[in-house]
Amino acid sequence: MTIMPKTDNTYFVGKLALREYFLQKYHFEKCFAAARRPLVLDAYHGQGLLWQELCKKYPCKVIGLDVKPIKGTLKISNLVYMRHFDLPYEIIDLDAYGEPWQAWDCVLQKSPQSAITVFLTQCWVGIGGGAVSHLWKSWCGLPLATPNWLAWRARDYMRQVALSRCLSKWKVIEAKQVMEKNVLGSPSRHWYIGLRLVRGPNNATDLSA
Ligand SMILES: C[S@@+](CC[C@H](N)C(=O)[O-])C[C@H]1O[C@@H](n2cnc3c(N)ncnc32)[C@H](O)[C@@H]1O
Repeated sequence: MTIMPKTDNTYFVGKLALREYFLQKYHFEKCFAAARRPLVLDAYHGQGLLWQELCKKYPCKVIGLDVKPIKGTLKISNLVYMRHFDLPYEIIDLDAYGEPWQAWDCVLQKSPQSAITVFLTQCWVGIGGGAVSHLWKSWCGLPLATPNWLAWRARDYMRQVALSRCLSKWKVIEAKQVMEKNVLGSPSRHWYIGLRLVRGPNNATDLSA
């Protein structure tokens, strides 16, 4: 399988617009209440370009994590951080360049908040199909030996299964996905999703969009 190069910020404009939409709608007032700005956990921080840009318009207090040593971030795996520290964050950004689902599961289990905004980026990095993790195969009831190219065909179903994991503890107030078209006009290989969740089970929400 050919591997496409990893880029920290594919579709920067779309990712920015998605975040701005939720900041404007759910966090605007707090951004300008100097005493207690929204706390953001940027769990795949990289150079932090997205939140640097967002904070110009929507001031927030951002804690950045990265496995690489980068100035101004905590050098730690987000999974280790989430398992060992409290998560007093109103906004959690999972801008992965692989899959964010293990971290997503941690957020759902551990967040003590009554309401949170979560951003998810899923990047498929292989041509003809992405690398599908064992975690995803097991969530979807696929044998782990299922070839990636075959499992990848069930990606829309897998997205629904993965997103639906929030429904036992959270209600989905709003979910949005921005789509990037590639040059041939076919749908984006990456998913950029934003969700507003409030505490409380909701088994009726349809996340199949
Ligand atoms: C897509 S980039 C993030 C770009 C960033 N959101 C920005 O605005 O510039 C993904 C980053 O996540 C980091 N990363 C990958 N796995 C991680 C993990 N388990 N914990 C923390 N950081 C991780 C990578 O080193 C990389 O810098």
